[in-house]
This record gives sequence, structure tokens and C-alpha cells, in this order.
Amino acid sequence: MSNPGVVDQSAVGQTSYSNHVNPQWARLLTLLQMNTNYVDCRQEKLHTSDGRTILDFLSGYCVHNIGHNHHQVIAELHAELDRNGPAMLQSHVAATAGELAEKLCSRAGGRLNKVYFANSGSEGVETAIKFARAATGRNGLLAARGAFHGLTCGALALMDHGFWSDGFGPMLPGVEFVGFGDIGGLENHLATRKFAALILEPIQGEAGIVLPPENYLERAQELCRKYGTLFVLDEVQTGLGRTGRFLASHHFRLDPDMVILAKALSGGLVPVGGVLMSDAIYDSVYHSLRRAIVHTSTYSENGLAMRAGLAAVEVLESEGLAERALIQGGEFRARLAETLAPYEMVDEVRGIGHFSGIAFRPPKSLRLRLSYEAFHRIHPAMFGQIIVMRLYRDHGILTQICGNNFMVLKAAPPLNVSDESLEAFLRAIADVLEAVHSSKRFWQDALELAGRALKV
Ligand SMILES: Cc1ncc(COP(=O)(O)O)c(C=O)c1O
Repeated sequence: MSNPGVVDQSAVGQTSYSNHVNPQWARLLTLLQMNTNYVDCRQEKLHTSDGRTILDFLSGYCVHNIGHNHHQVIAELHAELDRNGPAMLQSHVAATAGELAEKLCSRAGGRLNKVYFANSGSEGVETAIKFARAATGRNGLLAARGAFHGLTCGALALMDHGFWSDGFGPMLPGVEFVGFGDIGGLENHLATRKFAALILEPIQGEAGIVLPPENYLERAQELCRKYGTLFVLDEVQTGLGRTGRFLASHHFRLDPDMVILAKALSGGLVPVGGVLMSDAIYDSVYHSLRRAIVHTSTYSENGLAMRAGLAAVEVLESEGLAERALIQGGEFRARLAETLAPYEMVDEVRGIGHFSGIAFRPPKSLRLRLSYEAFHRIHPAMFGQIIVMRLYRDHGILTQICGNNFMVLKAAPPLNVSDESLEAFLRAIADVLEAVHSSKRFWQDALELAGRALKV
């Protein structure tokens, strides 16, 4: 019950957010019944002010690999603040950046021996674009259809999905797209020798948790070498243990020229990004004293991000979270596939480590098809979004559909998720899909939601 004498700060903040930040986001969350006041977040458990516990199966889009608010990262951050050191001078050699870079390069392996630190994944992608051009003297950039690389201008240009770029053009010139997995198309493009880099997510995230066809990445790397194009992997979502290895590229024994990391690198507490690259690429940019700071950013290498990065990598390793994700994620997907097998709208359960997707397909039976098609006409994301809403509202499970493939639901919990929470997810998704396949209520809910969407 609310106390009439006490000002509810979260309500005040909500109003201020709507007035001064992003009112449409607040409205959308309210419409989906997901506008919640979270008061205490640990591991995969998000406790709310109204006494609920939500299980996080999104991890902030693969940020919280070591779980929310890991005590070890928090302790290291407290200690860093208490040191009163040079958090960010831009006039000194940041030793913690050196330590973190060394750790990342030794874990990543291959030719990756230098790191440029950034503040986000997008900024990392921008860096990779600039450095690839500098290193090769070429302008062209090749990306995969369906990719997601971030929303700054350069990163956005590497995405063919018009939703993200409409109205923000013109895009960066020189960008072309190939199908993810299409080796013939890739060779045709690379053979023109105009591309500085091929930039790929090793496992596409927002395209729908798409695993590469067998030997595709190995072959793509070989072709890049043959035609003088740099092989660049965006591991912003797949890196840092998410897929069961330190990098997803380790599953395929690749030796990329650059790897972009961000998200989970700081344990979810401080913005950070990093581009790992070969000495040759680094030297092509910083080749003389005159160019020592030719590419930089105010907060890159800042003390808190670097300290959080060191602590997060330490936790990942000391708790064996990548290995855990590989085994536990595989078992979870097997259970998921078995549980969802009876439902005609489930096409496939796929993924690796704790990077899983449930792919839906349009129904064949007439009874379901009519409702589904009505939904789809309202909005192509409507079906998936109602599943997300029901998982959240009725079962306390937070997840999302993929940004470039609305027919795939993600399951990407923190890598230290408990078996009980995985069981809760299995029960919840089975219950929701049972409703999809057997109850008119599911489809009526959606139509009501559409009605409310038109009113708000
Ligand atoms: C694969 C990939 N690359 C890049 C980005 C952009 O990262 P950021 O949002 O930190 O700019 C994202 C964000 O979701 C991503 O998934």
C-alpha cells in the first residue's frame, strides 16, 4: 500500500523519463505490461518493487554473462573508486588498459595482439571500419544479410534491414551484402578486390540465432586471405563465454584479423568495448609519433571500465562459466526441443552455449492459420511480442524476439543461471505455447493489445 506522506521517487523518475528521455519507449513497455520497477538484481533474478521475481533470459542482449551485479566486480569497482587514481586523464599510460589488453589477447589467441578500447559495440565497429580501410587502402566493406552491428552511422551502413536505417541516409558508400553462408556469392564479391573487410557475426544474433553452415567461416577466412580482404568478426553478443568458448570463433578454429567485443566485457556495469587486432593493422593507423592519438575517444581506457573488465574476465574463468554454458546450454536446448516438439508452430530450437533461439513458423492447420494471419497483418512482430508479453506477465520470464527476425524468440540467460530457473523457463514456454495452440484467449489477447496500441 502506498504511504500518502511519502513521495514515490520511481514514479517521479518515470514521469521525468517520459518528459525528457524517451516517452515512446515508456509507452511501449506499459502497453506490453513490462514497465516494471526493479529494485534488486542478482545473477538471473530481478526483484521488483511489487514483490515479484523476474528471471532474466535476455541478459540485456548478452551483457550479463556473469550475472547481474556480480559481487566480485562490484568489490573491484569500489576498490578502484577508493584508490582516487587517474580514472581518466587522457594524458597518461593507463596500466589497467595494458593489463586488460594482455588478458584479452592471450585468451583470444592467433594474430590478435593489440586492443583499441571503446565505449560500446557500435564504436568498436566504427573502429574496425576505419582501421580496415587504413590497413588495406581499400574503401569497400562487405557484410552479411540480416546482420546487426549497431546504430551509429558506419555500423548502421553494415545492416541491410531498412527498419534501422530508413530516414537516416545516405548510408556510408561502398558497402555490399552477401547471404550469410553463401560462399559462392562471397567469392564473387571478394574477387573484385575492392573490399577492405568482410565483417561477420560468427553466429548471427538478431537475424535469429543463425549458426553458420559447416565450414562456412573457415572458407570465408581463406577467401579473405586469398583476395586481400580483412576477416573481421563482430563478437559483441557472442564473445566472452556466451557460446561456450571465450570467443565463438574458437568453435571454428579461426584466426581473424580483428574481433570486436563489448557488452559483457565489463560485467554489465560500465560501458566498454574493445577491438582486438593484429600488430600490422594497428601499425597501419598508429605508425608514427604524429599519429599516436589519431583514433581515440575521451572515455576509452577509463579506469572503471578497465577494472570492471579485468574483474569480469577473472569471474568468467574462475567460475568456469564458458564451459558451464556449453554443457548446461546444450542440455537445456535438448529439453526445450523435446518439450516443444508437439507444437506445430515451433519450427526449430537452435543455438550453442547459452545462446538459444526458438524459431516459430506459420501454422498449417486452418484454425490457427486464420488467427495467425490476422495477427501478422496487424504487425509482423505481433505474434512474437505476445509470446514475450505472456512469458513476462504470467510466468515472470524476461526475454525478447530477435531484432531482425520476429519469428525467433531468444533464450540467453546469464551463464551462471540455476537449473531451477531453466526448469521454470521450460514450464513457462510450454504453458504459453499450449495456450497458442489450444486457447482462443491467446489470440484475443493479441487483438486487444492491438486495439490498445492504436489508442495510446
Ligand atoms: C552483434 C552486435 N554488434 C554490435 C552491436 C552494437 O553494440 P552497442 O549497442 O554496444 O553499440 C550489437 C548490439 O546489440 C550487436 O548485437
